[in-house]
Amino acid sequence: MVSLIRQPDAAALAEAAAALRAGLLVAMPTETVYGLAGHALDATAAGRIFHAKARPAFDPLIVHVPSLAAAESLVTEMPPLARRLAEAFWPGPLTLVLPKRPSVPDLVTSGLASVALRVPAHPVAQALLQQAGLPLAAPSANRFGGISPTTAAHVAAELADAADLKMILDGGPCPRGVESTIVRVDGGRMTILRLGSLSLEELETHGPLEVKNHLDSPPDDASEKQLPGGAVPGAGMTERHYAPQTPLQLVDSPEHAAALAGRRVGLLCFSSQQAVAGFGETRVLSPAGDLVEAAARLFAAMRELDALSLDRLVAIALPEHSVGRAINDRLRRASAPKS
Ligand code: TXA
Ligand code: MG
Repeated sequence: MVSLIRQPDAAALAEAAAALRAGLLVAMPTETVYGLAGHALDATAAGRIFHAKARPAFDPLIVHVPSLAAAESLVTEMPPLARRLAEAFWPGPLTLVLPKRPSVPDLVTSGLASVALRVPAHPVAQALLQQAGLPLAAPSANRFGGISPTTAAHVAAELADAADLKMILDGGPCPRGVESTIVRVDGGRMTILRLGSLSLEELETHGPLEVKNHLDSPPDDASEKQLPGGAVPGAGMTERHYAPQTPLQLVDSPEHAAALAGRRVGLLCFSSQQAVAGFGETRVLSPAGDLVEAAARLFAAMRELDALSLDRLVAIALPEHSVGRAINDRLRRASAPKS
């Protein structure tokens, strides 16, 4: 089979933009993870995204736009705090949940009255948004519930058989490696719906915030909308997510990990200091103990360990501050029991 992976030169970008305008799908690098992009105002294209990912229709998509001005054209309201956050952190790994205009299809927002918007910083994503001249709905380019892709090869491994995917633009490894932070703004308050690359410490400098990460509870405006089967749409319906095939256990210390060591067990740990002996395979996310480097390595390391056909994986929780919080969140969900 001819590879879908292309270098993001002018010809590839032009072809990708044409495919998007025709309602087809393109995988694009962003600074966080690779996204599976489609025309956000075309419900058919959005339907193709859900189909390619085998994603349930109750899990809404993030819409990517090139600028704050483009974001404003999709919402009925941009509260002053939301504008300040956008000015401070866009382009970058911040997603703002705001009241949507009717032009945004209900399928994209899973019937919610709000739309999640972000301006990506990656130059290839920016170039594609400019060339296509469209807002792009783009969830992470993995099959639903799986590990988010941080290289073009990861996307190919996840979605090679997706008929509507026309191209994977190769922008190299994603520099952030963990998804955007999702924030809802109510008046002067921020509610964090998903922990992510943008840290709470950075957000907190702009006002008070409350964390309602979806492991704890569904978002407020989602709980009003019950779907068949009792499901509610919104950030992170699914507790188990980002999950490898190999069972993963999360522990809080190297001592606890040591008690679980074995030849057929893999270890995922933060720094060289945390590495403990006795495991068949070990991946150290950042030998020197740098959280930003650890985030960038996280999903690739999980994939590497998962490919080794080990019996079990053990991960040691990282320091619970800055992006370490988001990494721990992903590890918690990767280790949640299959429902
Ligand atoms: O970094 C990122 O955000 C990446 C890159 C590709 O931009 N995208 C990403 O998309 O992580 P996805 O689909 O994997 O996760 C989007 C999350 C979902 O948990 C979804 O439920 C939530 O955003 N979401 C989307 N629209 C929402 C809304 N209106 N209200 C609350 N949550 C929403
Ligand atoms: Mg995802």
